[in-house]
Parts: sequence; structure tokens; C-alpha cells
Amino acid sequence: FSLRAGLIEPDGGRLVDLRVAEPERDLKKREAALLPRVKLTTIDVQWVHVLSEGWASPLTGFMRESEFLQTLHFNSLRLDDGSFVNMSVPIVLAIDDSQKERIGESNRVALVDSDDNPLAILTDIEIYKHPKEERIARTWGTTAPGLPYVEETITNAGNWLIGGDLEVIEPIKYHDGLDRFRLSPAELREEFERRNADAVFAFQLRNPVHNGHALLMTDTRRRLLEMGFKNPILLLHPLGGYTKADDVPLSWRMKQHEKVLEDGVLDPETTVVSIFPSPMHYAGPTEVQWHAKSRINAGANFYIVGRDPAGMGHPVEKRDLYDADHGKKVLSMAPGLERLNILPFKVAAYDRTQRKMAFFDPSRAQDFLFISGTKMRTLAKNKENPPDGFMCPGGWKVLVEYYDSLTPS
Ligand code: ADX
Repeated sequence: FSLRAGLIEPDGGRLVDLRVAEPERDLKKREAALLPRVKLTTIDVQWVHVLSEGWASPLTGFMRESEFLQTLHFNSLRLDDGSFVNMSVPIVLAIDDSQKERIGESNRVALVDSDDNPLAILTDIEIYKHPKEERIARTWGTTAPGLPYVEETITNAGNWLIGGDLEVIEPIKYHDGLDRFRLSPAELREEFERRNADAVFAFQLRNPVHNGHALLMTDTRRRLLEMGFKNPILLLHPLGGYTKADDVPLSWRMKQHEKVLEDGVLDPETTVVSIFPSPMHYAGPTEVQWHAKSRINAGANFYIVGRDPAGMGHPVEKRDLYDADHGKKVLSMAPGLERLNILPFKVAAYDRTQRKMAFFDPSRAQDFLFISGTKMRTLAKNKENPPDGFMCPGGWKVLVEYYDSLTPS
């Protein structure tokens, strides 16, 4: 049994890497200085990062119109050989009328950060209309006002999209003390091989780890061992890009995850903790496909999915935006994800009779307590404790500290 054969192939067969090799960087920088410029927002830079390391393989840059339309209408991309890969969220770059005018007939543009430093060159460009309403309706299934990603990046964005092939001049870094956790798909693959993994199971999250999440991960490990795998490795993969204002910021989540490993809820020997650089859409069943597809590229062949993945409350009505079971149902049927083993899980809740997190049993519903994100936030803000067994004490302490840091003294 060869180990290399144990890691799943990236989508399209080859991991895309759009970062310019070191010896060519100066040349590319000088080239960029002569081109029309497009200024990137913080979230645009996060997408440059995502594209540059091949999370969206085989995509080689911001989407051109044909890729954008396939993504919106089919949640997949057709490759030259006629095969399909999954692609459910548009990875696009918006520009306004004046930027479009400045680009004129140029075939290439420089993408610059807020300080005008060139980060990348976009080549063989195509500029096309940004159909905002259609993009929003098809990605989120609603155009209700108050969708966080929409308000942050689409509502006030330009009326044009610019696609093309990316050449990223320098690896994207954030200098926030967490760059060492931002392993690229290639680096993760190396790490899984170094650890002799014969199965890799990914857990996407954007929230602190409670014992319900942990139950999904430990139960998966148990199932994989039962299936005959000898060394399944967990990729604990918190999302590191844009999140909405009331989510716990990445730096605090990383501290919390560290405690979860320290307190022995998860085993550091069989867990790789890394940061997934993508921004968060909160687009439920559409977005969970992106969350899964990108992890194939990082070498994961098993993907855990539970209740309401990538979901949130409806921005206007008093209900969840998506049916809490649709994410796992859609993921299990999604075009282009046939190679990925989806591990769907029932909802976990606090079982008062066992005093721990357990899978919900509808036949004795009255025994279970659902502790929502909102409830958790209220408890931590008021320095109250959740019931014993909901979260490890070290992890909970970090959350209390975080909410404490928000209160003006
Ligand atoms: S997400 O936006 O990254 O999906 P979150 O961090 O809350 O949000 O969830 C991470 C994963 O855990 C998702 O697969 C989600 O379905 C699952 N999950 C979260 N809470 C529960 C729960 N109480 N029971 C079962 N699965 C859950």
C-alpha cells in the first residue's frame, strides 16, 4: 500500500500554484508598476490568497464569465476533457466604471493592496457585467437585506467583474502571529504524508469547538478505525478569512482550539490544526460544497458535515436561513464531489441525563438542551458557566476572556 496513493488527487489532477518563483519576483514587480491598477479590498486579498495556493484548483485566477456562469447555474466547472469539478461560489473581482475606463484596452492589470503595493498581475483579462441581484439570489437563495457577505462585498461593489489568470508576486502573509498556521494545500499534503496518514478527515468550522463538535470528530475517527484504516489524521480547519461581526475572531478561536487540544478533547498526535484562508459567505448548502471541495485539494478524502453547515439566522425573519438538514443532503449528492466521502452527522445537543454532549434522540427530546451560538455568547458575556460537559474548562475560559475584552472598562 503506497502512501502517495492514499492521498486523494487534487481536482483537475494537478494542484495549482500561482505564486511567482523567487528569482522572477523583482521582474514581475517592475512589470506590475507599468500596468493599470486595480485596488483590492481586504476580502479580495483573501481570495487572491485562496487562488494562489490552489484551494480552488483547477481555477487559475478570478473567474471569467464562462466560469462565473457555470458556477452560478451548475455549481460546477467543465474541464477540457469533459469531466466536471465542483465549484459552487463565484470567486470574482468587482471593478467600477472608472476603473474599467482606466484599464481601457490593456490585456493585463496589476492588483494592488490598500498601500498601492502590487500583489499580483491579472493576465489575459476579460471584463463583463456584474449581475449583482442574480449573483446574490443564486448564491444565497434570497436577496433579503442584511446578508453579511453581500453587504460587505457586493452591494457597494462595482458594476463589472474582471477575470483572468493570476500571477501572485509574493506569498500572501498577514503578520498577525498566525501565519505559521496557514499551511497551503501542498504543505498540508506534505504534513499528512510525513505523518503516514492512510485517511484524512477534514472538519471545517468558524466557531469555537464545543464537545458536540468534538463528538463528530472522535466518532469519525472511531468509524475510520473500524473501517480498517490504521492512521486516520484529522484536519481541524478553522476558517480564517472574513466572518460576520458577531462571530468570534480568528485569533481568539485559535487560542480556544489550542486549549481543546491541551485539555485532551482532541488528540494532538492525530490532529493537524491549520487555518483555511477563505472568507465566509454564510450561503449554507451552496457554500458547504466549496468548503468540501477545497479540502479535497488539501488532501482530505473524508469530510464531516453536521447541522446547518455554513448557515446563519435569517437576516429579517426569526428562523434559520436554511433548512438545517439541507447542507448534508446537498453535499452527499453534489456534482463533482463523488470522490469525497461525506460523513453526515445528526445534531448533537446537551443530554441532561448523561451530563454530556450526545447525538439528539427525538424519542426523549425533553432530556436535551440546545445551546445556540447566541446562548453561548450570552453566558460567556455574563461570565456564567454552561452546563458541565458542554465545553472543556480551558476553552470556555478563553471565550469568557474574549467577551470580557469587548466590554469597555
Ligand atoms: S460552519 O459555518 O463552519 O459550518 P460551525 O463552526 O458552527 O459553522 O460548524 C462546523 C461544523 O460542525 C459543521 O459541519 C456543522 O454542520 C457542524 N455542527 C455545528 N454544530 C453542530 C451540532 N450541534 N450538531 C451537529 N453538528 C454541528
